[in-house]
Parts: sequence; structure tokens; C-alpha cells
Amino acid sequence: MIPACRLADLPRGEAFRLDIDPPVSVFHTDDGEVFAIDDTCTHQDASLADGWLEGCQVECPLHASTFDLRTGAVDAPPAKLPVRTHGVIVEDGMIYVRVSTAAPNLPPCVTARLAGGPA
Ligand code: FES
Repeated sequence: MIPACRLADLPRGEAFRLDIDPPVSVFHTDDGEVFAIDDTCTHQDASLADGWLEGCQVECPLHASTFDLRTGAVDAPPAKLPVRTHGVIVEDGMIYVRVSTAAPNLPPCVTARLAGGPA
């Protein structure tokens, strides 16, 4: 489990980017639920923590694909692949993330950059 931030420091409707590799976004919904998904959109290199949160969906700030925070599923194009979801536990006011062991669906430009190739 990786400590992310204190729940009291993450207001409802806001997101926190956990700078691990690859980064993970933690969302606190208006209903008070907390979810964690991969931060990088599966379409191109955009941070979903910078997107718009509505209910249990986040809209990518670059081309407006939406992802379901509960499942990681894409609900609107142009993204086609889901983001990974991660386990979340809130204990003693602290948000902890259990990072998925599944392979992330990083966009090709990010995969190439991580491999040392052209972005
Ligand atoms: S970068 Fe997210 S939809 Fe294009």
C-alpha cells in the first residue's frame, strides 16, 4: 500500500496525482467516495487528475474521453482502452493506494518515451 494524501487535504470534487511510475490519480467524488485510477489517459499523454470530475466519471482535459472511476472503462471516445483501477483504503484519515499488478494501457507516445524512443 502506498500512502497518497490525507483525506482532509483532498476536498470532494478534487483529484490528487500520486507521482509514482506510472502516475496514479486519486479522486474524491462529490458523494464522498474515493477512487484511484492510472493518471495517464490511454489516448495520448494527458493527466486525468487535471480533468473534470462528474459523479463517478472523469473527463480527459485534452480530447474529452470519459472514464468510469469504478471500472476504468472508457465511456466516450476517442480513447479506446480502459485505464487500470487501483485499490483504495482510508485508514486513520490517510488514503492508501494498492497499485494494480495488471499492465497499464499507456498511450503509444508515453510507452515510446519510457523506452527511450521518440515521443
Ligand atoms: S488525450 Fe485523453 S482523450 Fe485524447
